[in-house]
This record gives sequence, C-alpha cells and structure tokens, in this order.
Amino acid sequence: MAKIIDGKKVAEEIKENLKVEVSEFREKNGFPPGLAVVQVGNNPASTAYVSFKQKACEQTGIYSVKHHLDESVSEEELLSLIGKLNSDSKIHGILVQLPLPEHIDEQKVISAIAPEKDVDGFHPVNVGRFVVGMEALLPCTPRGIIRLLESYGVETEGKHAVVVGRSNIVGKPAALMLLKKNATVSIAHRRTKNLAELTKSADILVVAVGRPGLVTGDMIKEGAVVIDVGINKVDGKLVGDVDFESASEKASLITPVPGGVGPMTIAMLLENTLQAARMLSENR
Ligand code: GUN
Repeated sequence: MAKIIDGKKVAEEIKENLKVEVSEFREKNGFPPGLAVVQVGNNPASTAYVSFKQKACEQTGIYSVKHHLDESVSEEELLSLIGKLNSDSKIHGILVQLPLPEHIDEQKVISAIAPEKDVDGFHPVNVGRFVVGMEALLPCTPRGIIRLLESYGVETEGKHAVVVGRSNIVGKPAALMLLKKNATVSIAHRRTKNLAELTKSADILVVAVGRPGLVTGDMIKEGAVVIDVGINKVDGKLVGDVDFESASEKASLITPVPGGVGPMTIAMLLENTLQAARMLSENR
C-alpha cells in the first residue's frame, strides 16, 4: 500500500518559510514583492485557480492585484495591459491565467510579458535559458513536482522517469527537470504505442494529460513513485489522471488529487514572485 505524498503539508511549510523571507525583503526594500494576475473571461476553473493564487499571496505578505478582463477583450487591449504591468515598479511578477479565448494568440501574449517578470516561466527567453542550463524563472507545476520528490527523499539519478503528457506547461518542462536530475526520461503522448508497457517500466511516473482514470494499477510497476498532475471534475468530484485506488496498491508513494501537486504549484508561484522581485530589485 502506497504512502501518500502530502502536497498540502509541504506547500504549507514552504509558505511558512516564505512569510519570513517576504517580510525580510520588505524590510530591506521598503515594499513587498508584487504579483499581477490577469484573468480573461469566466472559466470556472480559472476563477478558482486565480482565487487560490491571490489568497496564497495574502497569506505570505505578497502584494497582489487582479485584472479581470471580459471574454471579448481584444488581443490589443490585453497586450496593452501587459505593457503597463511590465513598467509598473510595484509589480515583479505577471501571470496571465491560461487558457485564453480562441481569438487571442496565447504565445503572443506570453511573449509580451517581460521575461524578468514571467513568474510562470512560459516566456521563450526563460524556456531557452532553462534548456541550456542558465538561471531562469521556471514553470511552477513541474518545479512543484521536483520539490515533492526531494521532500520525500525520492532518488532520481539513473531512475527511469516516464512523463505522460507533453504540454509546455507541465510535460515538457517536467521531463527536462527530471533529466537535469539525472533520470533517464521517456515522454509519452497520445500517439505513443503500448502506453502500459512504457508506464510499467517507470520508477517515477508523472501523469499530466487531463484524462480521468487514464493510468490504472495494472500499468504501474510495483514500488513506483506516482505523481498525478491531472485535475478533472467527474460527477462533481475532483479526480486526477490516475485511478488512485488501484494505483495505490502498486505504488510506494503517490500524490492524491486534490492535495498533491496542486498546492505545490501555488507555493512555487509565490517563490518565483519573490525570486523575480529580488532579481529586479538588485538590478535597479
Ligand atoms: N493554467 C493551467 N495551469 C496554469 C499555470 O500554471 N499558469 C497559468 N498562467 N495558467 C495555467
């Protein structure tokens, strides 16, 4: 029977540490780190995430402002808001909640954010810096996954890590981070043949595709570490991409949904905001 990875608890510990560091930053600089969160439209999941992010800022002493734009906002107006936030000295982090409406070019919007304020780590400059091993702001969810593995003493070196999903937000960066930690990494996606065969060879299995119950216990190696990044609503209940019940009979460690990776994403966002504020203040 697997031990449950308590992401909520680890995230709370990180936030407690951050409280102290944020307060030290404030004393030294005379202002707190500041995060601007931009939401377009009323996607209920986005509304929930944005509210969690703002609450976490409040909890740790980070200043946060929300810009809620109408679904029909033009790309130009959104870009203009980002331009203003880029030059706002109270703001050190800018986060545009995704997904954006169809008529807006997501990559164009991400690329308009000043790389120094890109606390999501999605800007091509940060992605590039990360890939070649330079200092960069890194995507929050994969950072949260790595931090959970470290918190629970999971060795990655020489281990076979299988990442199911190849998104820019989770799959690709998670695979690169595991590679950096000397895992042997495989990336599976919708065109992968014999998914079960591949997942069964994983010592560390990360699943981030958004399909409830995609991975079941019979697809998991005895003793594997299973990280479930999925957040799906099924019959009004939140579930991951992994069938928790059958998977926890095979895994040695497993993240629950909710309470696994989710809270870590938010904790990493706060850390990124403090990091951005520090970098910007040193260079002023
Ligand atoms: N939508 C889903 N995950 C994320 C995230 O980490 N950042 C942003 N900005 N939008 C998201």
